Amino acid sequence: MKNLLSMEHLTKEEILHIIARAAAFEKGEAAQLNRTYNVANLFFEPSTRTKTSFEMAERRVGCEVIPFDAGFSSALKGETMYDTVKTLEMIGIDAVIIRAKEDEYYNELLEGIECAVINAGDGAGQHPSQCLLDLYTIYKEFGHFEGLNITIVGDITHSRVAKSNANALTRLGANVRFLCPAEWAGDFEAAHSWEDVLEDSDVIMLLRIQHERHAVSKNFSKDGYHEEFGLTAAREKRMKQGAIIMHPAPINRDVEIADELVECERSRIFSQVRNGVFARMAILETILKERA
Ligand code: CP
Repeated sequence: MKNLLSMEHLTKEEILHIIARAAAFEKGEAAQLNRTYNVANLFFEPSTRTKTSFEMAERRVGCEVIPFDAGFSSALKGETMYDTVKTLEMIGIDAVIIRAKEDEYYNELLEGIECAVINAGDGAGQHPSQCLLDLYTIYKEFGHFEGLNITIVGDITHSRVAKSNANALTRLGANVRFLCPAEWAGDFEAAHSWEDVLEDSDVIMLLRIQHERHAVSKNFSKDGYHEEFGLTAAREKRMKQGAIIMHPAPINRDVEIADELVECERSRIFSQVRNGVFARMAILETILKERA
């Protein structure tokens, strides 16, 4: 695996390898890398989890993390993504981890760039490292994917997490369903009522409403959304025994999920964050091992 750009590019075997290596790292195994690699994190959109989690994972697999502040970089003077990455490559960077607001920003890096590119989120496109940590979380819980009913709830059309997870989970044999207001379904067929999905879901995966990606600020009511599409305490009580709640975060409490459910017994929201470090260690090891 030279790069990690979109879940569509990963085979089932590659996905299962990353899950297995994440589990090994969680058990305390050391990374199988035979030199120190130099990496830089280029975040042109805000991030708390992904950026910090990658930095932690990079240090734990023995990388040298070279600071890069997108807000003070020459990108602000109009330098292209290609020129920025090529410049870092010439300085000696082996891998760049990039988040940017443009869908598929990585297409301009496919030719002429030798350093590895790891997509940490492209606009409303893909979020493969979030997907891999979500898969690891589900695998830890159930030990398999086949036949699981996984319901993704919320702003599907603007969510890169929804698209990455829908692709990977379907290929792994899960039954992926969507629940959202009609205008947020995009190309997906979605239920519009909890009654269709609540009681037989093994995983309820909630999404943040991506107001920053909405073209027009629509007349949105937080209370109205919570009442119709939020996971409330009453709905949680009707979930199947053993079913879990996931959310990539950041969370809007009392919008997509009731405040009191964020750390309830079923919630794996903060476990996802912890699992993310192991999944990202596995991603880095898999990619860097292929480099000389
Ligand atoms: N889940 C996620 O991508 O969070 P951040 O935006 O904080 O990185």
